[in-house]
Amino acid sequence: MSMQGSVLTVGKCLACLEFILFPVWRGIGLSGGVAAGWSQSWGRCLRLEPNSPGQGAPIPAYDYPVWLVLCRGGRARLEEVCQRGRGAIRLPTELLRLKLPQLYENYQVPKVFREDGIMSGYRHPRSSARDCVLSSFSMNNETMNIWTHFLPTWYFLWRFCALSWSMNFLTDSYTWPLLVYMVLICIYPFTSSCAHTFSTMSPESRHICYFFDYGALSLYSLGCAISYGHYVIPDCWVNTFLHQHFVPIAVGNTIFCTSLSCYSRFLELQFPQRSKVLRTGAFIVPFIFDTVPLFYRILLCVGGNCSSSGALSSHCYHLLFAFLTCFLFTAHLPERLAPGRFDYIGHSHQLFHVSAVVGTHFQMEGVIADMMTRRKWLLTHGAAPSFLGTVGVLVLSFVLNLGIIGVFSAPLLWKPWHSAPQQHTAATATAPATARELKEQ
Ligand SMILES: *[C@@H]1O[C@H](CO)[C@@H](O)[C@H](O)[C@H]1NC(C)=O
Ligand SMILES: [Zn+2]
Repeated sequence: MSMQGSVLTVGKCLACLEFILFPVWRGIGLSGGVAAGWSQSWGRCLRLEPNSPGQGAPIPAYDYPVWLVLCRGGRARLEEVCQRGRGAIRLPTELLRLKLPQLYENYQVPKVFREDGIMSGYRHPRSSARDCVLSSFSMNNETMNIWTHFLPTWYFLWRFCALSWSMNFLTDSYTWPLLVYMVLICIYPFTSSCAHTFSTMSPESRHICYFFDYGALSLYSLGCAISYGHYVIPDCWVNTFLHQHFVPIAVGNTIFCTSLSCYSRFLELQFPQRSKVLRTGAFIVPFIFDTVPLFYRILLCVGGNCSSSGALSSHCYHLLFAFLTCFLFTAHLPERLAPGRFDYIGHSHQLFHVSAVVGTHFQMEGVIADMMTRRKWLLTHGAAPSFLGTVGVLVLSFVLNLGIIGVFSAPLLWKPWHSAPQQHTAATATAPATARELKEQ
């Protein structure tokens, strides 16, 4: 925003409205006594003074953009400034009309939206799509969740592009398992960040968003299986029954995983414990299955039969982060220990995102290293990957997963027109309609 010609002054804290200001660029050689270059400090305070032309000391006027990072309570304060300053300052009218979406405390939102240990920072449970998108640029309890998966999407895409320059994904069948894997590790963080962005449009949309999130994660487990089955499998398992049926079993796993995790959402309100156990189990089963060949190779290596240790060390880091991810998902630490302290930054879901992404990074490195170093051996001892067995399986599973999500979403989309199921009536009944209604509570 620009505060042209205003008498908003920045000084030492008196009766002070504190903001955190980014250092701002003042331009080169600005007139009016304001020094050029960057303003120095971060913690700043806005003091309002009436505009009296007879005053002695010239009041420096800010005619460059001031960026406010609105922290906890910052919104209310900005509104206060606008209210109090209406007469005194001539702020651009757009600023006064700027409606920052309000945030709510956990008791103000329906039960479906509440999260253990997160006390504030909730967005409106019936936000518009536009507000959802805007909310990802202002601080609330989901902002970090959105960005911790949105930025890694670009990282993985960049790695994918770099690989497609150095490899021949089009005609070299040996690279197809990697192709599938790379596509899926780009899809899952992206889906997740979309799910976090749009989950507050309604209770139904929240469920559907997370159905997609689970579907993408479950497809990611299939990507792991396809790449592990082709590149990571121990030498002595090549052409065994498990090797030949590894991918078909993994397809079964994704169907199981998506169905069970979507189903677990329906139990969330009545049986939170059971729902959590089911969901965790739904993701652990494919993970354990995928990792069996890797565990075996690590065992062999511990037993002194080590080949390609470079790839193995990446795989070990991956496993470490995978365990951490699983722990964070189930333990809800640290916010469980200090409810309200980690509402915006540092709650378990964020850490879970970060650890999942770091784990995926190491997994990708391991897979690529194995793929490069074992090419000759794998192609002479086993069959080359087929198009149907890689890309074909991906497309099939994609369609199957969409079907499952459709089956679970249909009742949510249809119900509001007839009679909503118990949990949803309870949820929507308490949804605050307006800000004023909330204040009256
Ligand atoms: C953040 O708030 C939204 C409601 O606006 C809720 O659905 C979500 O579960 C919360 N997320 C976390 C991580 O607390
Ligand atoms: Zn998430």
